[in-house]
Amino acid sequence: MTTDVPTVRWGIVATGMISSWFVEDILLPEWPHKSANHIIQAIGSSSLDKCKKFANDFVTPTKPKVQPSLYGSYQEVYDDKDVDCVYIGTPHSFHKQNCLDAIKAGKNVLCEKPFTMNADEAEEVFAAAKEKGVFIMEAVWTRFFPAMQAVQKLLHEDQKIGRIIRMYCDFGLDIDIASLPDSSRYKDPALGAGSLLDIGIYSLTWGLVTLAGAVGDKAEEPEVSSTQTLSHGVDTSSSVILKYPSTGRQGICTSTTDFNRGGVSFARIEGSKGHIVVHGGTAASPSKIEFFPKEEGAKPDVWEFEKPGRGFYWEADAVAHDLKAGKVEDERMPWKETLRMMEIMDGVRKRGGAKFPVDKW
Ligand SMILES: NC(=O)c1ccc[n+]([C@@H]2O[C@H](COP(=O)([O-])OP(=O)(O)OC[C@H]3O[C@@H](n4cnc5c(N)ncnc54)[C@H](OP(=O)(O)O)[C@@H]3O)[C@@H](O)[C@H]2O)c1
Repeated sequence: MTTDVPTVRWGIVATGMISSWFVEDILLPEWPHKSANHIIQAIGSSSLDKCKKFANDFVTPTKPKVQPSLYGSYQEVYDDKDVDCVYIGTPHSFHKQNCLDAIKAGKNVLCEKPFTMNADEAEEVFAAAKEKGVFIMEAVWTRFFPAMQAVQKLLHEDQKIGRIIRMYCDFGLDIDIASLPDSSRYKDPALGAGSLLDIGIYSLTWGLVTLAGAVGDKAEEPEVSSTQTLSHGVDTSSSVILKYPSTGRQGICTSTTDFNRGGVSFARIEGSKGHIVVHGGTAASPSKIEFFPKEEGAKPDVWEFEKPGRGFYWEADAVAHDLKAGKVEDERMPWKETLRMMEIMDGVRKRGGAKFPVDKW
């Protein structure tokens, strides 16, 4: 890579599982289509000891040129003048306040999915970002995978399957929620527990991306119907039907925490000239595409995609380019797309009953 590629100095907020995955990935030396450099400039945690352990486990082994500043609070990350962009890896219910605090300090933000607990909170955060003029994006990393880009091109540019008719996508995990402590983010409605916001969001992402053919303001609003199965107020299964009025395209987007789907095909998109099947460890992480022509006996086309680590570096590279270009939102994951997703999930929860204490309905 040449030296004129952008570099982002990240401030990591929280030291849980997702922060470790993100940091491990962006500190890898190489990945396909690498187009930016990433430095872990600062780490903030509820405890300085946890912060030191996180740095020792995930940053020190990579022998970085810059040693991160380690803080026993999140605010010190927001106030660190050497941090270009804050990455937020707390449970869903903290995203709104973490984003608002970072924005107040003038920081750019990449916030884990789901962006917030509901659409009202998302609107509040975007209003604050707009007023301050900072960049902010929901970290829907799947949208930046080369395999996702390839599916979009095959469907909407190459029109490989002809007229798009319908799709389905499923994300299933087997989590023994009953055995978890009440404080777990998988169990506590106050922390946003439930399959929908945790993994159903990926099935819905595939629905929006494959059926709408556009993002943000250019995308049509789907009609939505849905149902949920609840256990102790938390949705263990959610099933959502999307229908696009202008084309009649339909999608079924499902999630469950009661069944591990395993590393098999997770999405199928059908059209007048054939169908596409997408494979990956989960619906978050596509790695292989197959195109089956309609003609009987025709051989499928197969594309496989190399992915060292997990694949979080592609969204990080996109942020680096957005910051270099002085943008406040990303064109593949614009604010409107996050709001659309939050509104769809609000509707699913209103119909299905998975209400959070913070919801005003
Ligand atoms: N993109 C993806 O594929 C992906 C995968 C998993 C999770 N996520 C998202 O990432 C977020 C965090 O998930 P996770 O699995 O990393 O959670 P986790 O392992 O429980 O870590 C969350 C961290 O947030 C901080 N925190 C602050 N207040 C907390 C509280 N009351 N309870 C628990 N943690 C608290 C803690 O860090 P400190 O003590 O250091 O402050 C904790 O380690 C969620 O919004 C989730 O949807 C995304």
